[in-house]
Amino acid sequence: MNQKNSKENLSRMHIENFSEIGRSKKEKYKEVYTGGKLYIAGEYSVLIPNQSAIIKNIDIFMKGEIRFSKEYNIYSDMYDYSVGLKEEDERYFLIQKTIETVNEYLELKGIRTSPFKLKITGKMERDGKKYGIGSSGSVTVLVVKSMAELYNFNISDETVFKLSAYVLMKMGDNGSMGDIACIAYNNLILYTSFDRRNLKKKIEEESLLHVIDDNWGFVIEKLKCPHKYEFLVGWTGKPSISREMIKRVKDSINKGFLETSEKIVGDLQKGIIAGNYPIIEECINNNGRILKELHSSIYSNELEILIKIAEKWKIPCKISGSGGGDCGIAICPSREDAENLTMEWGKYGIEVLYKSYL
Ligand code: PMV
Ligand code: MG
Repeated sequence: MNQKNSKENLSRMHIENFSEIGRSKKEKYKEVYTGGKLYIAGEYSVLIPNQSAIIKNIDIFMKGEIRFSKEYNIYSDMYDYSVGLKEEDERYFLIQKTIETVNEYLELKGIRTSPFKLKITGKMERDGKKYGIGSSGSVTVLVVKSMAELYNFNISDETVFKLSAYVLMKMGDNGSMGDIACIAYNNLILYTSFDRRNLKKKIEEESLLHVIDDNWGFVIEKLKCPHKYEFLVGWTGKPSISREMIKRVKDSINKGFLETSEKIVGDLQKGIIAGNYPIIEECINNNGRILKELHSSIYSNELEILIKIAEKWKIPCKISGSGGGDCGIAICPSREDAENLTMEWGKYGIEVLYKSYL
């Protein structure tokens, strides 16, 4: 398991690198963390309004350190340089746009905003290969939460979600925003999506405050499983780009798929709440099957192998997210099963990136 970015390790890194960020003794940085996410069920279906998905928080963290400063200074360990707010920078564009939006929001709420220094660490990748656990979503949420913290502005998870989703949609993100919901709430959630086309129109026509205060029509419900089933994330090490996958698969989504997916997600929700393993098992397998049938590009060779191995051990397993690479997830009834699967995956180059309980 990779724990490079765990909260503890990041904190240690933080202490070791104390002087590197040039902070004087008097200036206090505030620290904020955001995690990652992985889809458990409902992929592609949740792209359609009112359809649902179950998404799990992944405790591999990004960290934001923020304090007031003379000028804006933004640094991310993804890149080895820092930028200000106004100079256009392709790589920092998402972060810069998030800051601008949150500044506007805070000003509208009566807060006088001023420049700050923000340092972001804990990239969700290794050797330039992203894990596929939602790094761009996590960085957006991190910026929103860091700024709220800087101004001691009391902000709900729901508003963090809306502000982050607002920025991403304005930038043309074609996702369901389920990732943002999970990361903002940092919990296992059921997410029922809203009408994004409708909201985009509102974004063009109405003020930021109006849009944020509006009822978007989504549902986010925190879920809790009363039993400890081991949740394993197998990483193929082959990054996939969700935006491209969505474009490729979108037209294959039909009514039958949507109905079946919604039924599976509803059953899985009940199975999780009841801690009923046979139901969870059946739902995972069925959801995997309909995703495989949806489009040939979803199950890459590596994901096929990952799933076949789990099937051999009779452990429910499926792709997670848009597929085509990245990760697969498995839910094991016992620790022994989890250990066996970890070993078998390892033989075929599948690494357990993360493990926790459902
Ligand atoms: O590949 P991921 O983990 O970003 O998940 C994408 C899930 C989709 O349903 C295919 C798209 C979305 O944004 O909901
Ligand atoms: Mg993905």
